[in-house]
Amino acid sequence: MHIEHIDSEDLPTNTSNNEHFQAVVNRAVSRRGFMKIGGGVAAAGFLAGPLAGCASLGQSSKPLLGFKALPMSTADTAVVAEGYTATPFVPWGTPLFSSGAGSTWKGDGSETAADQARQVGENHDGMHFFPIDGKANNEGLLVMNHEYTTVIKGGNYITLFGLPPSQANTLDRVNKAINAWGCSVIHIRKDAAGKWAVVLDSKYNRRITGATPMDLTGPAAGDVLLRTSADPAGKMVLGTLNNCGNGYTPWGTYLTCEENFNSNFGTTIEPKVDGRNAAQKRYGITAGLSEYGWETQHARFDYKKEPNEANRFGWIVEIAPFAPDAPPKKRTALGRFKHESAAWNLTRDKRVVVYMGDDQANDYVYKFVSDKPYVEGNKAANASVLDSGKLYVARFDDGPAKGDFMGTGEWLLLDKEANPTLKADASFPNQAAVLVHARLAADKLGATKMDRPEWVTVHPETGEVYGTMTNNTSRTVTDDANSRAKNAYGQIVRWREAGGDAAATKFEWDTFVMAGNPTVAAHKGTLNAGSANVTVDNTFNSPDGLLFDRFGRLWIQTDGKYSNSGDFAGQGNNQMLCADPKTKEIRRFFVGPKECEVTGVAFTPDHKTMFINVQHPGENGTGASSWPEGGKAMPRSATVIITKNDGGVIGS
Ligand code: FEO
Ligand code: CA
Ligand code: CA
Repeated sequence: MHIEHIDSEDLPTNTSNNEHFQAVVNRAVSRRGFMKIGGGVAAAGFLAGPLAGCASLGQSSKPLLGFKALPMSTADTAVVAEGYTATPFVPWGTPLFSSGAGSTWKGDGSETAADQARQVGENHDGMHFFPIDGKANNEGLLVMNHEYTTVIKGGNYITLFGLPPSQANTLDRVNKAINAWGCSVIHIRKDAAGKWAVVLDSKYNRRITGATPMDLTGPAAGDVLLRTSADPAGKMVLGTLNNCGNGYTPWGTYLTCEENFNSNFGTTIEPKVDGRNAAQKRYGITAGLSEYGWETQHARFDYKKEPNEANRFGWIVEIAPFAPDAPPKKRTALGRFKHESAAWNLTRDKRVVVYMGDDQANDYVYKFVSDKPYVEGNKAANASVLDSGKLYVARFDDGPAKGDFMGTGEWLLLDKEANPTLKADASFPNQAAVLVHARLAADKLGATKMDRPEWVTVHPETGEVYGTMTNNTSRTVTDDANSRAKNAYGQIVRWREAGGDAAATKFEWDTFVMAGNPTVAAHKGTLNAGSANVTVDNTFNSPDGLLFDRFGRLWIQTDGKYSNSGDFAGQGNNQMLCADPKTKEIRRFFVGPKECEVTGVAFTPDHKTMFINVQHPGENGTGASSWPEGGKAMPRSATVIITKNDGGVIGS
């Protein structure tokens, strides 16, 4: 999500006394080989071991990046590297059924809440392709998130009710907004001519919305913190919201990540009286009326009337796309925070690890390690594997040298019994409280305040983990992992678990790229010019979406400033780039239309079809974009299908 006045994740809510690990004032050392400006030791040796072996990923001796870099663009269109084709697909409002409510799209926002519940939602985000038989390249279920509905000042929805922008000020309008959020499961098929289409009326087509019943599972389910007047057992929630990035599991399920749920809660009761407790503040719920105003129609979104309802959002939710009647499951063992994405790996003894970022300025990176192993082919065993395990939060230490953008780290255990600090702390009566208030527990353990942790991805061969720290303009105290005050550009940090085992509690890390802008004269000789792999040709800001493909290409998507002026001159619209993790080279591959972000990435098994999402084109509501239809059409979030014109693997 990116819109100036409601980008609540830019505002730190972390008031803990955790020091940023080390205040390093002088950065003019230890940058040779990493920064353009020379001096000191190189960071280049860090990955000399495991990444040297990438050839076994099916690559020939050909370079990993086989396409010509794309220039930046400020046009209101989707552009892709030469030799590739980008085709818009399943925009907001696309019908999933051929008859009944929502089976037509009028293009003027006149659809009702009931229609919206049977059409593709708004603001496409994280996404995964599940082949229909586990291997098909021409048919499968495209599962995607719909993060939110874009509003501008005054709570006016830019397109949900048609133009001009207007409010959700009735029950049906609020319900339409609720039904535009959540996830879509879309059965798609490619015809003989290579054209993808929705399989209308498929039994798999499904909308999961902000009102769909789903289960709370794991250690916090049923806890007093999760009980409400509508659900005194604390085990059943209506809806998933703010579904940002995603993950998937080796057993064929989708993980959707609940991010900025704070934005859905407000109060109509004495709006001038705050009435929030410390946890509600730490999770960013703002006093008074919310921007979306859902609390005016549904008491559960009023934090004074139902103070625990917000505790039922902010989770990782598991969806079984091939079981359309199965309720989604909110997995409380993975902790509650503003989840951005979820990337899995296996420990040496086959337990499941999930890496996760908490996207808020000065918040943390987490990992979950399951108690039980993943058992290939055993549906029953895998169905509950995310319900018990250990949750950790990361401390990124500067390591032996300061100012070299690398160091060591430790995973700190968020466990009421096994962690003496939490055991002695009466503010966490049980493990459920630790999980529901994971941010507050992590504050007590001295986790490292990061520059807005967004997506995380695991290298398919080495197991190294890469994470985007998108930006943090509120940073004042720096450390090696977050090395710039007022960080406008962001960086990608990568870590390697001790002994190569994802179960380890210690790791080494380094900075893969420090985004920056070398075209700005004032940045010359400073960290804001970016690391050595940032050039005038690939300059970008605010890395967000991040995914390794199975060949080891690192796809980087941006959700940042698109003014193309000042500090952002020459960067154009938001974009997707591709990096070679070994050489560190980065090339621009795709640029989105005006005022969008590029997010979500998925592939068919053969990697010859790529799906990405363009979210919130024209988000400022001033008519800058009419993508994808053009002309006088309303702008609509949509998927983009990318193919190589010679039929080859994307990026090759
Ligand atoms: Fe929804 Fe942090 O991006
Ligand atoms: Ca260091
Ligand atoms: Ca994001």
